[in-house]
Amino acid sequence: MHSSAFTASLLACLPLLAQAWNAPSYSGFNLVWSDSFSGSGNTLPDQDNWNIITGNLGVNQELETYSDSTANVQLSGGNTLQLVPVQASDGSWTSGRVESRYTFTPAAGAQTLAEADIRFGSNDISNKQGMWPAFWMLGDSIHQGTSWPECGEIDALETINGQLTGHGTVHCDQIGGVCNDPGGIGSQVTIPDQEWHTWRVQFDRTSNDWQSETITFYMDGNQFGQVTGSGLNDENSWNALCHSPLFFILNVAVGGSWPGDPNSSTEGGYGSMMEVAYVAVYST
Ligand SMILES: *[C@@H]1O[C@H](CO)[C@@H](O)[C@H](O)[C@H]1NC(C)=O
Repeated sequence: MHSSAFTASLLACLPLLAQAWNAPSYSGFNLVWSDSFSGSGNTLPDQDNWNIITGNLGVNQELETYSDSTANVQLSGGNTLQLVPVQASDGSWTSGRVESRYTFTPAAGAQTLAEADIRFGSNDISNKQGMWPAFWMLGDSIHQGTSWPECGEIDALETINGQLTGHGTVHCDQIGGVCNDPGGIGSQVTIPDQEWHTWRVQFDRTSNDWQSETITFYMDGNQFGQVTGSGLNDENSWNALCHSPLFFILNVAVGGSWPGDPNSSTEGGYGSMMEVAYVAVYST
């Protein structure tokens, strides 16, 4: 290839790479924290940033045993994290789950963004029965003994069975409480395809009045859900969701009470993975 043509095609590629693999800049916001998953392929993500969860957590009747094998959790080598469900010959499932050591508290008087760029493996949707990938946050108080859902949970993205429907949900208070748990308060959005999309939760505390503060859900910058302090009408629950330390969870669950179990068409492997290009927190 002629060198100037090579340079031109290389330059043409750069904006795409920058958009897909690094946390972008947003005017009016400072990048507070991010991980864009650089590193060699077939290695674990930075364990200063992430706890690699192992074992069967015994929740939601899920089938998977989380593992710290790079077959389930790995950097791709192309600046992404891949969480991969794998079925063993005996039918059992292993999968990947990481939880951030980092916590953030949406700042008073400010706007805070928590977002990730995510795509799904290319298996046909009919081969994803039982798959339950998620990008979500829990109140760090769960590490100090506060029970679920009182600790607060904000799901930026969940999807089940390969469906191109993204669910954004909050959980709080108690079963049967102000967040309508165990189901939570949720909104849905149609996902265009299994390719890269940006999932954001925006915490708006600029009003300095908990009742008019908001938590808003976006896909690719388009709002698809919102909860407000006044909508919950419970200050303790709002404090758990919007005034308290939160940590990130990225995982692919398999089976359980929401998606139902895999069927004979379900395929594991990269084709059913969740792939993450970055996780980032911004603040005004
Ligand atoms: C498995 O479930 C999916 C829906 O999630 C469906 O499309 C597929 O046909 C099912 N396969 C079998 C063998 O039942």
